[in-house]
Formats: sequence, structure tokens, C-alpha cells
Amino acid sequence: MRTDTPVTVFRKDYQPYPYDIPEVALAFDLAPDATEVRCAMQVRRKPGASADAALVLDGEDLELVSVGVDGAALPADRYRLSDHRLELYGLPASAAVEIVSRCKPSANSTLMGLYVSGGNFFTQCEAEGFRRITWFADRPDVMSRYRVTLRALPDYPVLLSNGNLVASRQLPDGRNEVEWEDPFPKPCYLFALVAGKLTHRETTVKTASGRDVLLQVYSDPGSETKTEWALDSLVRALRWDESRFGLELDLDRFMVVAVHDFNMGAMENKGLNIFNAAYVLADADTATDANYEGIESVIGHEYFHNWTGNRVTCRDWFQLSLKEGLTVFRDQEFSADMMADGMDAAEAASARAVKRIDDVVALRAAQFPEDAGPMAHPIRPESYQEIGNFYTATVYEKGAEVIRMQHTLLGEEGFRAGMDEYFRRHDGQAVTCDDFVAAMESVYVRQHPGRDLSVFRRWYRQAGTPRVSVKLDHDAAARRCTVTLTQECPLVGVEKKAGADYVKAPYHIPFAIGLLDREGRALTLRHEGEASETALLELSTQSRQWVFEDIADRPVPSLLRDFSAPVIVEYAWTDEELALLSAHDSNPFARWEAGQEFATRQILALAEARQAGRTLHADAAFIDTWRALLTDPAIDAAYRARALALPSEKTLAERMRQVDPPALAVARDFLRAELGRQLAAEFRQAFEASQTPGEYSPAPVPAGKRALKNLALGHLMAAGEPDAQRLAEQLYGQAGNMTDSMAALSALINFGQGEFPQQALAAFYDKWRDNPLVVDKWFALQASARSTTVQTARELMRHPAFTMRNPNRARALIFQFCLNNARGMHHPDGSGYAFWAEQVLALDALNPEIAARLARALDNWSRFVPALRSPMQTALQQVRAHEGLSRNVQEIVSKALE
Ligand code: ARG
Ligand code: ZN
Repeated sequence: MRTDTPVTVFRKDYQPYPYDIPEVALAFDLAPDATEVRCAMQVRRKPGASADAALVLDGEDLELVSVGVDGAALPADRYRLSDHRLELYGLPASAAVEIVSRCKPSANSTLMGLYVSGGNFFTQCEAEGFRRITWFADRPDVMSRYRVTLRALPDYPVLLSNGNLVASRQLPDGRNEVEWEDPFPKPCYLFALVAGKLTHRETTVKTASGRDVLLQVYSDPGSETKTEWALDSLVRALRWDESRFGLELDLDRFMVVAVHDFNMGAMENKGLNIFNAAYVLADADTATDANYEGIESVIGHEYFHNWTGNRVTCRDWFQLSLKEGLTVFRDQEFSADMMADGMDAAEAASARAVKRIDDVVALRAAQFPEDAGPMAHPIRPESYQEIGNFYTATVYEKGAEVIRMQHTLLGEEGFRAGMDEYFRRHDGQAVTCDDFVAAMESVYVRQHPGRDLSVFRRWYRQAGTPRVSVKLDHDAAARRCTVTLTQECPLVGVEKKAGADYVKAPYHIPFAIGLLDREGRALTLRHEGEASETALLELSTQSRQWVFEDIADRPVPSLLRDFSAPVIVEYAWTDEELALLSAHDSNPFARWEAGQEFATRQILALAEARQAGRTLHADAAFIDTWRALLTDPAIDAAYRARALALPSEKTLAERMRQVDPPALAVARDFLRAELGRQLAAEFRQAFEASQTPGEYSPAPVPAGKRALKNLALGHLMAAGEPDAQRLAEQLYGQAGNMTDSMAALSALINFGQGEFPQQALAAFYDKWRDNPLVVDKWFALQASARSTTVQTARELMRHPAFTMRNPNRARALIFQFCLNNARGMHHPDGSGYAFWAEQVLALDALNPEIAARLARALDNWSRFVPALRSPMQTALQQVRAHEGLSRNVQEIVSKALE
């Protein structure tokens, strides 16, 4: 049994490591059941460190074979081995330390450290997995140059590690031996090795300075036809980082390897990125438009880490957002630039808005609830028990918003100057979030004499989503409009416990605003010496006023344009004003937002009616607004599909005083069906007009058409329109790509009649049973289907293709059910919560990191309606009481119950 006693680590307790470890030589004798690792390191006590400072090394699940110093075995009284630590005493100021240990990759179901997947070896070291490979100073501020020797039987013909291949030979015992050398010092979390039978696709490109570099994508034998998009994306990422940030690839060789068993999306190991196969493999038959987009963005993300993460890394794990927030911002910009590529200015603005909308939708669905719940933490946390639990939407997505605000405040050129300064100061170092802001501030103070980013830094220290309320006063006689912004940031999570001692200070909020006249025309705003349609107001105190002159009539405000800050806006628009903004706002993001706000009001009112047992009615003005969007010839399909999509149940839940997922689901479905019924002709027309004949392309324009067409189909099916099922069956039968197949199958499973849906589902499985990524889709579709109950989920778990050991499969079935099936999961009898508790415990015995992610499904239990709240609490208590719980899950459930 595990002896995982949770220990809280605090940011304020940071201490530098007393030794430098400039060189590391690792030698692996790879075998699934017993891999021997020899770790030889050059160790030098830091100037100023105490002569009796022990060399403290971390280790987990390792068998120690020997410890040597300067060529001789270390006497037993000079080292101490405890649970997760190896301490060496009395070292000379400079020493050669050699540690030999053994681990068992085939038994490693945690997928951290060295493990076996599909018969091949892979590693995952971030954050603290390297200690499962060898005893080492497993912390990001210890940076070393690595030389790696791999020895394995010829069953493992491909042997990869970081950097450059410097030697390769056959050993007398028949095994192969290779040596890799990484010229760049790195923390151990960026170490990687891969060994096994793999195929690859490659290309050579010239970098900006004229060097030839080899780019390779490795995957299972047989999947070489599915790596073209990933390799092309890698080339685009390399070019983009050169042109937008002036950052060049620093290695001669860059490899991406796909693996089917992987805890996360992917990992940026130096020169050897390891990817969840779901973010590498794609072809038209098996991958959806969303998959293609996801691959491009994750390939970009990991590639961009080479500078923002690897060349400049984190001093400690509290600084995780230093690399993740920044790299998410960079991948978002990369995707936006790729989507807008080759378009004229208006098309490009719409394409960028589509990307911004998708990112904000994701932020609101995942990060806003986190920021309002028991796991709320600043983007730079103050403490943690298990760092694996802090790879969160807050650190990543809110972290990216905090970077984006700096980009907004400095402008594109200023931001680039700040980035250049950051690399000039810190290349090759392990630094803090504050170092990043200081580099940006050095530019900001030049641009804005007398101002600085000291208030802005609170975004790194304080948790929770600020609320900005807007007051608009108009003086007709003076033709003057006064805008007052007031911010408020309620205490969240642990802050509430701190009570009166904890005072939250105002944030520095860049707030973009426009004003429309009553005909929907944009008014010119004079602000800080400039005249424009959009003014950027900088709110950095609790409340502030701005005056706009020469405004004849009371205008309609267009607020938080482009989502210029991660805040919640409070303004009492009338429905008529929302309809006007939805039809005319020249800022495509704010235009979308107005429609979403209108729809949110409708659904929340319907949910209330449902709870009160009243009959549901759709509002005519709302239907008219949707009709106008559906038929506006000036907007493209991709944008239209976003504008017409009803807000998600997760986003809506955040707006309910007491969350009632089944009532929300009924209300949202009602409105969807009602729109389908009342706008049947228009949806029909959109469906027909959005066909994409010819060869499949994942490009934004055809993908946008498919999104609109399939949204229309969903509405028609939900409405039970005569003929809709025929359209769905036809689409399913004739689909030339996975996007259409999945959309048709989903509509059929959720709303279809007769035998066709079940037959199609069975045939789909038979067709794709050998493709794990498509089988995941098959499970996910059913797990989230409207009619799926706990019983159905349990039956699906008994399917021969189901396994808990593969995270993608567990996510497809268990996570989809627990997180995305409101009716099944939140059944009033509590059976969904009992199922959840059972699966958290089952997963925890295999893979604590994945279990802890599932554990978070009940985070916000205390905000649910009383009838659901108490069975949720019971389920959480049941998990907490379980003996031998990992510290990952312990941290989550104990915080939830605090
Ligand atoms: N650095 C990786 C990425 O963002 C994520 C690694 C997370 N690893 C983990 N075990 N939680 O690209
Ligand atoms: Zn990352």
C-alpha cells in the first residue's frame, strides 16, 4: 500500500539547491521487467553553500543497486536512504557521483517516469517523473548537460533521446547501443527516451539563418499515412516562431513521437517531444476538423516551448504559468494567424474572432468554475500538495489571458520588444513569473511614463474572477456620455477561510469598449488623444469614470471587446439592445457575446420555468434575433456557426444561483428544438448551402461550412422535423470525412427514431475496431448521449474494447459520462455520484494523476440544488475515507470537502 502522507509545499519556502550538477551521463540497459540505470554526475558545491550541506536526491519506486563517489563505493555511513530520498554526506566541493538503480517499466501504470506502451518504451518526466527513473535533484532549477547511452535488444530498433545522435553500434551480446548528446543544459523534467518499433516521416528545412534541420514524426508501424498533417504543422510552427518572434530552432534535429498511453496532450522534452497519439495522427477518414485543429495547435504549443519553457525555464513549479500561460498565448496566436492566412482583412478579422470565441468558450467552461470553486488558485499558486494537480485551466488558460492583457497593454510591437528583452536577460536560466513581468515592464514604462505594472502583478497573486460593473450616463444637453467602471473581486476557495485578514486589492484591467447609436452605427470615441471606434480603458483602481464628448443620443455600449480581460461584465442591457448589438456590433467578438447573453437569459428563464413546473415558451424576439443571424449574408459560415451555438451547459451553470444540471439540460434542449421548429426553413437552407463537395480539406473555410451545416442538422433533428432523419441518414451514408460521420451519428443517436441509429452505431464499431482513436470517439459519443444512464455506462465498461489503463479510453467513457452527461450523471437518485466514486478509486489504484482529474468532477458540489448536493457530498466523503488513497486524489477531495 502507498504511504502517501500529503505535505503542503509553499512558494515562500523556496531555497536554492546547494549544488550545481553541470554534467550528467545516463546509461540505460532497457528491459521491460528490469531496466538498469547508471547515473553519473559531476557535482559541484555552490560558492557560499555550507560545506556540510547534504546532496539530497529524489527517488520513487526505485531499487538502489550502488552509490559511488569519485570511483569508490560510498561507505554506508556516508549516505541515508529513506522513503523518497537519498542523502549523501561529506562530499568534497567537487565530486563525481555515480548511482546505479533499477526500475520496472512494464509494471508502471502511472505513465510517469519510464513505462511501456504497446511494447515500446516511453518516458514522461514533467513535473516530478524523473525521480522514477533515477535518484536525482528532481527540480527545474538544477540544469545539466546530458549524455545518454541506450542499450536494448534488436526488438527495439529505434532508440531515441534528446539532442544529437553521436554514436551507434552493435554490442557483442547482440544488443544495439546508441549515444545521444544534448548540447543545451536542461532541467531533468525535459529528459526523454523512446525505444521500440516505430515508423517515421521526415523532412529537412532551412532555418532563418540558413541551417538545415531534420524534422521527424514517429508513430506505430502502419500509421505513417496519418502523420502528414502533424509534420506540416511542425514546419508551419517553425516558420511562425521565426517570423513573429524572431526565434529559431536551436537543434539540428527535432523529433515528435506519438504514443497511445499518455496522461496529457503532449510534452516538450528537448528535441524529442512525446505526444498523445490523439494529437498526431489524422486523415480525412478518421479525424474530425476539431482533431486537425487540435493537432496543429498542440504541435505548435510543444514546439514553442523550446524557447518559452526550455531555453528559459521555471525556477520552481509555482512558476509553471511562466512557461504554460505564455506558451498557450503563443499557440493561440499561431492558430489565429494560420486561420487568417491568405484572407482579406474582413475575412481575417472574422477568422481571428472565431478563434478568440472558441478560446473564451473553453475558458468559461473550465476555468471560471475552477476559479469559483474549492481548487481556486492564482495563476502562480502559493502552495500545493501534489504539483500534478496544478496543470489546470487557471495556470494554462487564465495564464494565457494574463499574458494577452500584457500584449494588449503594450501593443504588438511593445510586446515583441518585451519578449526580446526577456530572452536577452534570461536565456539559459530558470526564472520566475516576476522576471517575465519585469521584462515587459521595462518596455511599458518607456511607452507610458509615470505608469508601471505593479498593480498588474496582482493577477499573479490573487485568485477568482473579477466582476466589472458598468454604469453609463448620458447628458443630452451636453452631448456627453460618462462611463463608470467598478470592479469587485469576491473571495474564493481558501481565501474565504482566511476571513477578514485577507484583503483583495483591485486589478489592472484593460477594458475595451465601443458605443453604438440606436441604428447600430459605431460612434467615434475620443480617448487619450486618439479617435477610434474602440477605446481601451485601463481600470486599475476600484472605480473610475471616463467621459466621451460629442455623443448626441444615449448610446448602446459594446463591452469588453475581444474579451480584453478575464472578467465578468455586469451591465443591464435590455433585450432590444442585445438584439441590436447582435445584428450590428462591428466588433465580431462583442457581437457574438451579445447573442450569447440574449440566449443565456432565455435558457435561464426556461430552466426556472421548468423547476416551477410551468410550461415552456420561446421568446419571439429571441427567435427573430437568431433568424437574423442565420440569414445575414454578410457573415461567413464559421462565424455564423459560433453565433448560433447556444451557450454550453457548463457556462450556463455558472450563472445559476443553485446549479440544477437536469433542468438546464431540459431548458437548453427545449430552446434548441424550438429554434429548429420555428426556423426549419432557414436551417434547411443553411444545410443545403453549406455542402463541401470534392476532396476533404481541414482548412478553416470548408471546416466552417461543415460546422454550420451540422449545427443546422442538429437543430432539425432536435425539433423532430419531418425529413430531418432522412438528411442525417444520407449524410451518414455518404460522408467522405469523419467530421460529417460523427455529426450525423451524433444527431441520430441523440434524436433519431427506429432501428437505424443503433445499427449504424454497431456498424461504425465494426468498421473502426482496429483504430483506437476512432473507438474512443465511439465510446465518447455514447457516454455523452442524452439517453445514456449509469446502467448504460456500466454496460459500455464491460465491452471488450474498454480498459481503464488507457487514459484516452477512460476519458472517452468515464470522463465523458461524469463531466458531459448532465442527465445521467446528475440523476436525483445519486447513482451517478456512486459510479463516479467507484471509478475514482479504481483509477487511483492504477494512475493517480488521471484519477485526480476525474475526482474534480464534483468540485462545485456545494453550489448545486440541495437534492443533488447531499448525495454528492456523500460520494466525496466515501472517496476521502478510502484507505491508501494517492496524495493526488486526497488533495482534491479534501479541498472539496473543506
Ligand atoms: N508541459 C506539458 C505541456 O503543457 C504538460 C506536461 C504535464 N505533465 C503532467 N504529468 N501533468 O505541454
Ligand atoms: Zn505546455
